[in-house]
Amino acid sequence: MKRFILAITGASGTRLGLRLLAELTKRAEVYLVISSSAITILKEEDGIDLLGKNKEEILRELSGFINGKVHYFTEKELDAPIASGSFRTDGMFIVPCSMKTLSAISNGYASNLIERAADVIIKEKRPLILSPREMPLSPIHLDNMLKLSRLGVIIAPPVPAFYHKPENIDELLNFITGKLLDVVTIEHDLYKRWRQ
Ligand SMILES: Cc1cc2nc3c(=O)[nH]c(=O)nc-3n(C[C@H](O)[C@H](O)[C@H](O)COP(=O)(O)O)c2cc1C
Repeated sequence: MKRFILAITGASGTRLGLRLLAELTKRAEVYLVISSSAITILKEEDGIDLLGKNKEEILRELSGFINGKVHYFTEKELDAPIASGSFRTDGMFIVPCSMKTLSAISNGYASNLIERAADVIIKEKRPLILSPREMPLSPIHLDNMLKLSRLGVIIAPPVPAFYHKPENIDELLNFITGKLLDVVTIEHDLYKRWRQ
């Protein structure tokens, strides 16, 4: 069974992280970290209140998005297995990825578990997939993305397409989630492929 790290950070679109969690857990073991800013946004945008809850309560609250094995860690747990390169994983997703986390990763500034785990993934040359969300993008954001892209990090922003004729937000989210799974060649039928 594959093993992935999924981090949800404080950018708009936290529901995309949860959508990916639901799909990933159907096919892989997931190490999940949600930043404290993401917890604020989950409440604002999705009405999911994780504030002040312990790990068991958080997993219970997210149970509708979990279809398999999940290990949950807070961003403060720098002694978690995923903080070490000796712990083997098949890669890491950060969905959505804030400009702050993007900047920390591109500068090797590993001040929390998400940034440290990404630092480890880069040094171990494993797949790292970032879904940065901001608009418009400044030269600072673009520089950080280019630097990481040149290191082999996959920059996969949550940009929808319309050729599959989405009729609602769910179908837009499915398309983006499917494209993220395509990067690590996980089979799915979340969107209709062009001319297939
Ligand atoms: C409601 C809300 C929406 C936000 N949306 C974004 C966003 O789309 N992109 C972004 O880079 N930052 C966004 N921010 C700011 C980040 O949450 C902030 O920079 C935070 O420090 C990110 O921390 P983290 O990367 O550790 O989660 C938003 C903040 C709030 C409160």
